[in-house]
Amino acid sequence: MLSHLEKQQTVLEIQGQTILKGEVIISGAKNSALALMAGSLLCSEDCRLRNLPSLVDINRMTQVLAALGVKLQRTGDILEINARNIGKSQAPYELVSQLRASFFVIGPLLARLGMTRVPLPGGCAIGARPVDLHVRGLQAMGADVRIEHGEVHACVKGSRSRLTGAKIYLDYPSVGATETIMMAATLADGETIIENAAQEPEIIDLANFCCSMGAKIRGAGTNKIVISGVERLHSTDYHVIPDRIEAGTFLVAGAITQSEISLFPVIPEHIASAIAKLRAIGPKVIIEEPNRLRLIPAPLRATDVETLPFPGFSTDMQAQFMALLTLSEGNSVITETVFENRLRHVAELQRMGADIRVKGNIALVRGVPFLSGAPVMATDLRASAALVLSGLAAQGKTLVQGLHHLDRGYDSLEEKLRKLGANIRRVNLASEEELNSYSTVTS
Ligand code: EPZ
Repeated sequence: MLSHLEKQQTVLEIQGQTILKGEVIISGAKNSALALMAGSLLCSEDCRLRNLPSLVDINRMTQVLAALGVKLQRTGDILEINARNIGKSQAPYELVSQLRASFFVIGPLLARLGMTRVPLPGGCAIGARPVDLHVRGLQAMGADVRIEHGEVHACVKGSRSRLTGAKIYLDYPSVGATETIMMAATLADGETIIENAAQEPEIIDLANFCCSMGAKIRGAGTNKIVISGVERLHSTDYHVIPDRIEAGTFLVAGAITQSEISLFPVIPEHIASAIAKLRAIGPKVIIEEPNRLRLIPAPLRATDVETLPFPGFSTDMQAQFMALLTLSEGNSVITETVFENRLRHVAELQRMGADIRVKGNIALVRGVPFLSGAPVMATDLRASAALVLSGLAAQGKTLVQGLHHLDRGYDSLEEKLRKLGANIRRVNLASEEELNSYSTVTS
């Protein structure tokens, strides 16, 4: 029987092998919204963000900004922000430790206030997640940066009140470091050039957001971004791009359940690598209008996947495609090159009957004819999505635990899947009848 601790858990119960049908609405992009919220600190006037997803991570970023003195008002998918009085220049540890992305406030705070203290975000399930590239970029722009007692202390050196534009080469095209440096550079004195910059769509969205406030940024989306500093930024009303990772996750939901579904809104070029991979595996992906995709299912064939910085195949889609490839005929080699510990979903997929062998950062997946439902534990955000996808395809019932991971990054996933016809519901295992329906022996 489940232990007492597990009894108290809310879990997703999925009855597999239901065909999906219909259209799913894709929410605003988590990884863009978080950066834009940090970017709103650059401006002392009203900012409005539209198409914001409802996620735990967004709520946490709202708390971080509020703790810094920012005024925020959320109405539906609209967030009104006013960072006029960001007196306190220190983000609280207990909030930053729960949301790594809150470290992105360091660039805007330094640019606005000339000094700041931000707790080191620390690692997470998928890796150590260092911030050395962020720090080195700010130092190149004239900040004195020290790490003491788990906090990054940064202040503009000497008598200068502003950061100074610099030429910065990133050893790795880090998304976060590119965002930190780009935001800080918008108010710096002079021109900043970021070479080997990240090219993810979220970088373009952040650059467009900053430009809508009067920043001067060229080259976002390429590996060289040029920012000419300005004195101050003004208010804006900005619409966040759709979430490419949520879109990719739903494409896999259609493919893994052999269902024809459509997705809207989607920006196809944001998931070109995932679309290409899906087509290699078998399904058809049709671009019906500028921002609507239709998936036509087909028998699944093995293929190889290597995660790379954009425009390569996204690491945030690796777990979902592994779930799909466990049911694809033949052998697939999956190589995770971005994070050092992002194969933890393998053990849970194996519990469902997947045939996977891991050597270092490489997983060899041998396709099996079917998966069988089981109680499984999510280990991180995208792993939880992979387990839901596997549950949708598996024979019998799957119980996905560890939903705090899922709720960080997916807006109403089970409601959206249920609307497509999936047999999925959130249950509290404390209720007796739920317990009796699972005769599981915990390991
Ligand atoms: C962003 O994380 C995303 N998060 C991640 O999405 C995504 O997986 C990642 O970019 C890669 O695309 C947000 O945007 C909030 P990185 P970030 O800096 O910025 C190393 C999800 O599931 N690195 O590009 O932290 C780092 O260790 C999340 O939605 C340094 O060495 O990613 C990693 O190996 C997970 N030093 C690699 O770069 C640094 O200073 C990529 O990290 C920074 C990063």
